[in-house]
Amino acid sequence: MTASNGSVRLAGKVAFVTGATSGIGRAMALRYAREGATVMVVSRQPNPYEGGDPTHELIRKEGGKAEFLSLDVCDAPAVDRAVDAVVERYGALHIMACSAGAIGPMGDSREVKIEDFDRCMAVNVRGIFSCVQAALRHFVPARYGKVVAVSSNFGMVGVAGLASYCTAKAAVINMIRALAVEYGSSGVNINVLCPGSTKTALAAPLHRIKEISDKFRAATPLRIRHDDYQAEPVDIADAALFLASDESRFVTGSALVVDGGWSAI
Ligand SMILES: NC(=O)c1ccc[n+]([C@@H]2O[C@H](COP(=O)([O-])OP(=O)(O)OC[C@H]3O[C@@H](n4cnc5c(N)ncnc54)[C@H](O)[C@@H]3O)[C@@H](O)[C@H]2O)c1
Repeated sequence: MTASNGSVRLAGKVAFVTGATSGIGRAMALRYAREGATVMVVSRQPNPYEGGDPTHELIRKEGGKAEFLSLDVCDAPAVDRAVDAVVERYGALHIMACSAGAIGPMGDSREVKIEDFDRCMAVNVRGIFSCVQAALRHFVPARYGKVVAVSSNFGMVGVAGLASYCTAKAAVINMIRALAVEYGSSGVNINVLCPGSTKTALAAPLHRIKEISDKFRAATPLRIRHDDYQAEPVDIADAALFLASDESRFVTGSALVVDGGWSAI
């Protein structure tokens, strides 16, 4: 999709998209590339969980610009090195989009191993903080930058059996608010997306449980595409495009919920 004047919305921009090999991050990377951005497809492994061509290869096949960067977002020094190398190579970084995440331990919270709780925080919270920190070191002097962090609507409500994940996702929302306040006067936009249930490898095990899928179906006001209560990854990517584009110039510290109204009830 192009803007009303026919131009692409991210022409000339360089985007670093974590978790971009699969699911929501993959859809975001594709969306950004189709809008003219050069995309760093960042993840631990190049192949999509859902199968198909690796994201960076798909982008190149379509005539876009992308490269794959192998990175564990839990490794903060490696994150710094990767972001600095991108700026060195391309002359600038404009968009930091953080979709890398994992659901963490599920079930009775009394049984959760504390190291699994820590791992959930490391991927979902510290990973985003490191990536945003590294990006801000370039965004603030440039007086331009777009941060698009991915949290969840589970960061706004309590969900039984998912205390670690809910804690992590709530932390991301307030981290982003705090950073938006801290860097607002620098001309940097820092926002967070809160997707609802989306058809990806991460959500699949949860939604194979009939009791859970029935509950979600009943509680999603905006059932789209033949009574389907789950979003497609592209539904989240469309919102992520807005937050990465200049159309969001007066939006910062905002948590944009894309869940078909599930958390509005
Ligand atoms: N799918 C949903 O229903 C849903 C709902 C709300 C929020 N989210 C959030 O959206 C984000 C993306 O989830 P998804 O559903 O696309 O999941 P997914 O499992 O399909 O993709 C996750 C991606 O993150 C990468 N990743 C995981 N740990 C990493 C690490 N340490 N370093 C680098 N890359 C790492 C994986 O390799 C993969 O590419 C997550 O933050 C998730 O919590 C998902």
